[in-house]
Amino acid sequence: MKIKGTTKVVGLFGYPVAHTLSPIIQNTAFQETDQDLIYLPFSVEPRQLEVATRSILALGMRGVNVTIPHKEQIVRYLDQVSEQAGLVGAVNTVVNREGKLAGYNTDGEGFIESLRRKGYSLRDKEVLIIGAGGAALAISVFLLREGVARLVLINRTYARARKLVSKLESIPTSGTKLELFKFKRRNSFPGKERIDLIINTTSLGMHKGDPSPLDLESFSDSSYIYDIVYNRETQLLHQARVRGMQHQGGLDMLIYQGGLSFKLWTGKEAPVNKMRKIAQEHLGEANL
Ligand code: ATR
Repeated sequence: MKIKGTTKVVGLFGYPVAHTLSPIIQNTAFQETDQDLIYLPFSVEPRQLEVATRSILALGMRGVNVTIPHKEQIVRYLDQVSEQAGLVGAVNTVVNREGKLAGYNTDGEGFIESLRRKGYSLRDKEVLIIGAGGAALAISVFLLREGVARLVLINRTYARARKLVSKLESIPTSGTKLELFKFKRRNSFPGKERIDLIINTTSLGMHKGDPSPLDLESFSDSSYIYDIVYNRETQLLHQARVRGMQHQGGLDMLIYQGGLSFKLWTGKEAPVNKMRKIAQEHLGEANL
């Protein structure tokens, strides 16, 4: 990578940022497409977020990715946010557009794109989401947009899932039926046999030895299992594979949300195959 007088910086604002794969993925994409850009991680303490955000303009940076814990807080320091980022209430990509800071959220779109590329259509599907954090919200907003028929939400902390449902109820949809069940009913709620797509958005599975958030036994063989955890084959994905169910891990979501951010900064299509390859190399054999 050649750093010249003309090179612009794209940053990652998070706290912590030490374990991120984004610098590897984005710098590979920049090099592959000959962008005069470099991607650097910045560990930004929450109390420094405002100053850090203003520095995007002061330093003439092209933009930043935003990760935990800043995705919601940064919104107040931006000049504009996209409709989707507004609905989600969180930004993961900022673009410096001639001195104005524009915020976007590519997490949900990255998820949808990863299914689209597998030829999976969400229209009229019945979907179960486990979890009610930021990832669940970003994905749910897009599931409504894609016209799923039914969305069942289950989370360990019921009040958090209730809050997520209230948020989703305020979004005009083409008639998605929203349902909410207690965590203890996750393997036994009414109509579970009709579920087409199961999405794990919890962090269960990120660590070796984590149990599965769900017992797939009582679900239909034809359901599609999606786990957004990307660093290993989780127990949930293992169960799905053993039962011969269609399944997908979170690596493609990571790649496509990164690809969409790349496009926002450069105006070019991202070299997603190269990005996936380098990410896989860094994650190791277990995730291929
Ligand atoms: P993100 O923004 O990545 O979605 P998050 O906001 O920390 O991350 O949300 C993590 C999700 O994983 C939550 O739904 C959390 O459940 P709670 O709301 O009850 O905390 C879920 N989660 C984490 N550990 C879990 C566990 N051991 N069992 C079940 N759910 C778990």
